[in-house]
Amino acid sequence: MGLYNFNELYNIAKTREFKAVGSFNLHCLEMLPAFFKAAQKTNSPLMIQISTGTAQYLGYRLLVDSVCSLAESQNVPTCLHLDHCSNISDIQTAIDAGFSSVMYDGSHLSIDENIKNTCAVINIARQSNISVEGELGAIGGAEDGKATAAEHISFTTVEDAKRYVDETGVNMLAVSVGTVHGLYTGKAQIQHQRLAEISEATQIPLVLHGGTGVSDDDMRRAVTEGINKVNVGTEMNVQWVAQCKSTFDKGKVNDSVRKFLIPANDAVTRVLVEKISLFK
Ligand code: 13P
Repeated sequence: MGLYNFNELYNIAKTREFKAVGSFNLHCLEMLPAFFKAAQKTNSPLMIQISTGTAQYLGYRLLVDSVCSLAESQNVPTCLHLDHCSNISDIQTAIDAGFSSVMYDGSHLSIDENIKNTCAVINIARQSNISVEGELGAIGGAEDGKATAAEHISFTTVEDAKRYVDETGVNMLAVSVGTVHGLYTGKAQIQHQRLAEISEATQIPLVLHGGTGVSDDDMRRAVTEGINKVNVGTEMNVQWVAQCKSTFDKGKVNDSVRKFLIPANDAVTRVLVEKISLFK
């Protein structure tokens, strides 16, 4: 079974009565089987997203080969997506390696520059049937060690979103509507009206970044207002590290390392299962 691009995966998700696809950040290879377990438990297709930091750490080809192998053996329709990337040559590397979806993040640029670069990425991606996600507006918080300060957060406007989508033809658009990347001190305040208006104006799948810290009610509502891809990263990392801290601390040095990691992977599966259940 080959990998699916976002639109193909989303179509499968709809036939299984999901309103949105969860896109989950993989932080290390050990976590990978836990993602597939969750997809099987929920009968959901699976979108796995990789930061450029993780891709460089593990290697693009190793990721593609491992994900393809599990997708086939576990019979789970899967999309492998490069998360937040502002470097076109890294995007080319991911496509050459076999990723089936990429995000070009030009949200820090002027809209003219963002449109120009997004079109260049789409030119490359279309030749290989790869989906492209763009971003408009600035989502706050910390992502892969890079922080956006609160004063630099800017919400996506309906006018910019429509222009960007019309001029680029992106497959999906990440919007800044009140979530932030990373851990929250409180729950996110999602701007539902803005979200619904952007969806109405653009008519393409919208992406909610910063899925960690969004209340269940907000999440259930957002997927009825045009959010068709939900990114979750920090929550799995937190659970994995918390479990490892406790198992490593209690274990002996000659215990198989596998014993320490199984509870961490089980915790990751639980997070995915809970999140996926909100997308129906
Ligand atoms: P969280 O880490 O806040 O869940 O966000 C993940 C994300 O949006 C990745 O692009």
